[in-house]
Amino acid sequence: MSAAIVLVLAIADNGVIGAAGAIPWRIPDDMKRFKALTMGKPIVMGRKTWDSFPKKPLPGRTNIVITRDSSWKAEGASVVHSFEEALARARSENPSDICIVGGAEIYRAALPVATRIELTEVHASAQGDTHLALIERSIWRETAREDRQTPEGLRYSYVTLERV
Ligand SMILES: NC(=O)c1ccc[n+]([C@@H]2O[C@H](COP(=O)([O-])OP(=O)(O)OC[C@H]3O[C@@H](n4cnc5c(N)ncnc54)[C@H](OP(=O)(O)O)[C@@H]3O)[C@@H](O)[C@H]2O)c1
Repeated sequence: MSAAIVLVLAIADNGVIGAAGAIPWRIPDDMKRFKALTMGKPIVMGRKTWDSFPKKPLPGRTNIVITRDSSWKAEGASVVHSFEEALARARSENPSDICIVGGAEIYRAALPVATRIELTEVHASAQGDTHLALIERSIWRETAREDRQTPEGLRYSYVTLERV
């Protein structure tokens, strides 16, 4: 069986996913879910998302980082220079899932080949500088939805989308 390509993505209702190199909301339970979804699997990210992690690499996962800079290196990062090279590197581990963990540039490259999206819808109009177009629902089937709320009252939903 070939690996599923899974986008793990949190997006506000207005399409914002990032602000000033970070995530514009704090939802601790979503961080736990991210860990559970990605643990033991290769994770593919852009160099800016790597830079945004306070502690890196993320443990227990092969951190595959895409950059155009042929001299870029970072302790704990498996460095590649294209999205295709990232997939090949991830597939070499023979995983069940390859997790695509952002940011916007890498989600855009991955969307045409993704098999599943593990989405966190953040029900707010967030301020930010990194956006994604809203997901074209006609080609995705919603197979799970769980509505939740933080103690501060921020509503969010965990949604699983599978390619039709
Ligand atoms: N809400 C979420 O779920 C989520 C998840 C992840 C990240 N984020 C947020 O998103 C923001 C970062 O996203 P971003 O779109 O600005 O950056 P990004 O996708 O993380 O990284 C972009 C960088 O990746 C490299 N890259 C991209 N496409 C490439 C290609 N085809 N070939 C080779 N290298 C390529 C380049 O690195 P070089 O410049 O080194 O060449 C580029 O500058 C941050 O605010 C972060 O917190 C949000």
